[in-house]
Amino acid sequence: MTIAVYLPAASSTQNWCQMLGDLMPDWDIRAFDQIEDPASVTYAVVWRPRVGDLARFPNLKAIVSIGAGIDHVLLDTEVPRHVPVIRTVGTDLTQLMKEYVALHTLRMHRNLPQMQANQAASKWDAIVVPPAPERRVGVMGLGNLGAASAQLLAQIGFQTVGWSRSPKEIGGITTYAGMAGLPDFLAGTEVLVCLLPLTDSTRGILDANVFNQLQRGASIINAARGPHLVDSDLLAALESGQVSHATLDVFHIEPLPVDHPFWSHPKITITPHVASMIDAPTGSKIIARNLRLFDQTGSVPDLADVARGY
Ligand code: NAP
Ligand code: GLV
Repeated sequence: MTIAVYLPAASSTQNWCQMLGDLMPDWDIRAFDQIEDPASVTYAVVWRPRVGDLARFPNLKAIVSIGAGIDHVLLDTEVPRHVPVIRTVGTDLTQLMKEYVALHTLRMHRNLPQMQANQAASKWDAIVVPPAPERRVGVMGLGNLGAASAQLLAQIGFQTVGWSRSPKEIGGITTYAGMAGLPDFLAGTEVLVCLLPLTDSTRGILDANVFNQLQRGASIINAARGPHLVDSDLLAALESGQVSHATLDVFHIEPLPVDHPFWSHPKITITPHVASMIDAPTGSKIIARNLRLFDQTGSVPDLADVARGY
């Protein structure tokens, strides 16, 4: 039984093979490019696999996404849809996302980008902001990451609202569900955090229609996936003042091309897909545990719903 590993960087693939190998010495773990007998591969551990690669393995029992999202696996239309996909999630990853969301929400709330611009111009301007309980923040997606981040925002004191596909009850948070609940969720929201999975229903959701329903001057934080955002609509909303600032961790093309207008935009903060990235030492422990459990029982709690797309 072989576990095939693929990440776009060969050095990362080697690193993950090494880490998984140390934790699973009884398994044959090797990079995709070193597989001699594709029929021997029963599990694949991947981040952004190349289209067609997974279909080479006729005896796959499961695919492990090196991440919470499975969109990068489903981009490969040749992947047989009956093969289960296991997400990689855990408390360390949730903690990292909570930190990212709290950091950037507070940064927007306290108007830090304007303070930094003022400092660059040696300008003393005491900007007064309301306390958090007078600020409404909204989290799109109330799964592992969204619910935990929303709860932290509520603990800080923000008026916190959340939006998901199915109705939710989360202490301290006002929740809305489905497209019918979207207008009420957006109305009055001053900081909008996107933690949705990328699916056919959520692609392009951060568009002019959504921006126009927010409080004028709202901020956007997208830590989910680049294609949630309509880039041109964001640029127009920043220009008009409907949106005052955007913090973006994820992009249509990563790395973000050097000539992309976002890089030099004064109202955009860029982070290079680091909000909650899995490192090999942490991720390999979670994956080794999941693979052993799946191999013994045929299931794990972190199974994605492939038909649903997340
Ligand atoms: P999750 O547990 O699967 O939760 C997804 C949430 O989104 C659920 O609450 C779901 O609603 C909601 N949702 C899905 N489709 C929807 C729709 N059409 N309308 C409204 N709500 C919808 O996902 P997660 O683990 O929290 O991760 C979320 C995403 O974050 C991942 O898919 C990934 O793209 C991204 N991510 C980014 C980073 C980074 O470093 N930037 C790191 C990790 C993850 P229900 O609860 O009703 O199903
Ligand atoms: C990272 O983007 C993930 O999906 O975990």
